[in-house]
Amino acid sequence: MNTYSELISSIEESRTMAVSSLIKKLKAEGKNVLSFSAGEPDFPTPDFIKQAAIKAIHENFTRYTPNEGHPPLINAIIKKFREENNLEFNPNNILVSDGAKHSIYNLLMALCNPGDEVIFQAPYWVSYPEMAKLAQAVPVVIKAGVEQDYKITPLQLEKAITPKTKVFIFNTPSNPTGAIYSKEEILKLAEVLKDKNVYVISDEIYEKIIFDNEEHFSIGSIDYLNEKVITVNGVSKAYAMTGWRIGYAGGNTEVIKLARNLQSHSTSNAPSISQAAALAALTQTTDEISNMVEQFKTRRDFIHNSLNEIKGIKCPLPKGAFYVFFDVSEYYGSHINGYKVNDSNSFCNYLLNEEHVGLVPGAAFGNDNCVRMSYACSMDELKEGFARISRGLAKLN
Ligand SMILES: Cc1ncc(COP(=O)(O)O)c(C=O)c1O
Repeated sequence: MNTYSELISSIEESRTMAVSSLIKKLKAEGKNVLSFSAGEPDFPTPDFIKQAAIKAIHENFTRYTPNEGHPPLINAIIKKFREENNLEFNPNNILVSDGAKHSIYNLLMALCNPGDEVIFQAPYWVSYPEMAKLAQAVPVVIKAGVEQDYKITPLQLEKAITPKTKVFIFNTPSNPTGAIYSKEEILKLAEVLKDKNVYVISDEIYEKIIFDNEEHFSIGSIDYLNEKVITVNGVSKAYAMTGWRIGYAGGNTEVIKLARNLQSHSTSNAPSISQAAALAALTQTTDEISNMVEQFKTRRDFIHNSLNEIKGIKCPLPKGAFYVFFDVSEYYGSHINGYKVNDSNSFCNYLLNEEHVGLVPGAAFGNDNCVRMSYACSMDELKEGFARISRGLAKLN
């Protein structure tokens, strides 16, 4: 009999992808399913970016680029980090990868030895625990529930750090909660990290999708943490470019060098054409991004207000990204026709089967009291989705 890698066999399928597959299956059966599971903007990639890619093809920019990235893109990333994040880098500090996901994976692989601990909070992005396991590290989760606005405290961080802690993954604005850590909150977390031998991977992929005059602050810009923080970003969410697969990391030369080595033997350079497109995204100005954020805000306001009208739902106001993450635990224990809702999976299954609404169970993000709803969809879909959710919940006893 064949045996397979024990390590890879221990990794779970991405649960957000599993939900999407189920929704696709129901749609293929002809069901009118409304899916709110999308982890990507519903807007098309702006035209000037597409044009840059087309130009790159016509100019035969179709060969390998340097493994670490196309030099003009690296320079644009350095400029972006300097001007927007107060981070000072030279080309040796940068790695361009196939999406931010790939950058984070490369970094964890570069940093961790078997048994090292990788800390992050729950609710977390689904890939953090599995990536930590792939790096043979031990995921350590700090719980931050709705009662603390899904944000950890410095004391919680302090308590979670042990001599084995290697990395703290920090994500603001957050997927799935949309929570944003203020500069003051980040400074307090940084104090905890000050004398510790812990690296920080700062995942800032939702940086540009923020509302209510909130300001994004990069933990890497704190002087005394400078050498320990690797900042990750990308073009997927900010420029509606999820399929182009460009992400990047900036940080400590030694860590970046190791991550580059790993990338050089696995995927090599990110696609040349996508790099040309990303260069346009980072260097040309446009209204399209702010229009997109404006529309996300209108939708957020609608769905946040509406959900809070439903008895038993607790939905804090997300300050960024394009998700609402709401507590539905008051419905646990209710039932209908012999079907019992007792966790986020059974809650989502009920709404999917009964009302054909696709939400993602909070269990996928480490918080079983909640569910995630993406508002990367039209206002009409949101209105109809809300109507279905309230109708479905009203039927539960
Ligand atoms: C928090 C977070 N980080 C990283 C990523 C990866 O983005 P990409 O690989 O498309 O750049 C995602 C995508 O969903 C995300 O939600």
